Amino acid sequence: MRSTHTFIEVTEEEERIIRKCLLGYTKPFIKCGSKGYVMPGSFRKHAEAIYNFKVRPDDVWVVSVPRSGTTWTQEMVWLLENDLDYKTAKSKPLFERFPMLETTSHIPEMGHIFIRMNFMNLGSFQGLKKASQTPSWKTLEMAPSPRFIKTHLPLSMLPPNLLNTAKVIYVARDPRDVAVSYYYLHKMIAKKFMRASFADFWNAFKRDLLPMTPVIEHVNESWDQRHNKNLHFLFYEDMKKDLKREIQGVCKFLDRNYTDEKINELVNHLSFDSFRNNKNVNNNANGDGKIQFIRKGEAGGWRTHFDAEMKIEAEFYLSARLKGLDLKYPSWSS
Ligand code: A3P
Repeated sequence: MRSTHTFIEVTEEEERIIRKCLLGYTKPFIKCGSKGYVMPGSFRKHAEAIYNFKVRPDDVWVVSVPRSGTTWTQEMVWLLENDLDYKTAKSKPLFERFPMLETTSHIPEMGHIFIRMNFMNLGSFQGLKKASQTPSWKTLEMAPSPRFIKTHLPLSMLPPNLLNTAKVIYVARDPRDVAVSYYYLHKMIAKKFMRASFADFWNAFKRDLLPMTPVIEHVNESWDQRHNKNLHFLFYEDMKKDLKREIQGVCKFLDRNYTDEKINELVNHLSFDSFRNNKNVNNNANGDGKIQFIRKGEAGGWRTHFDAEMKIEAEFYLSARLKGLDLKYPSWSS
């Protein structure tokens, strides 16, 4: 089976907008497939292998747009699937227990040198070093079952038999909070080299120019499959509101039974404060503290980052992108 994706390079103007926000990339960014998902140029080389990746019936996948609550969902799913084995969860980093499929496709040509030099904070980014040596999808292909796989690719760029074969949990978040969180992540990675302000980031975001965007298309692909017996759809905002209820929903989906007491323990383990101090989920297992995946953990924190004009733009962005879809965010109504 081959990939049916088409790739086009972004325009020079778009490239300038993206490069202002994202540093360290050497090849032009591309737009993939009919929806035009933006990817680093290095993705082209890996797209086919990822599309043809062999899914197994006992795989469990977590799929999302970056900064949507992926890490939070992964830790919940991993523990539910592993008899709440906190001992292993507290001794082995999440990125090893639940690796990302496409990590290698984000590493630019000279990436291994950047990583070795810890240019920006790349050397502190867990899993990048290994993925620069062996393609991340290849390592996963050789991994023993059961596998836990994280990906930020939309369903249309994943193996077409995924939903007929494995269980998938998709997590979505208000795009405005995703934009803010995406900005802080890149700021943290780029260190002093970051030139972009949040306004620059928002400009790239609202034009669907950041990797894995357009966000609404990405989310909507999974929303359309929300009644598929192999897909469970979560919203970050619902997890913030009632984590216990969302865990119970995931238990049902995964066919796992735990007592109320055990679920309460898991709620505690997944609480923001406990998570922030947990180096195994905070991408900080090497203890240098340079990359912290867990930042503020708020729903609606975007309000303090958007000025009046951005707020209007965001309203326009959401209403235009959601028009004609039955996708509804709990945090937004037109
Ligand atoms: P913020 O940057 O807004 O704080 P991902 O794992 O997809 O990269 O998402 C990261 C976002 O999820 C970050 O958002 C992070 O703080 C938030 N997050 C992670 N764990 C959380 C938790 N236990 N409770 C609330 N938010 C959490």
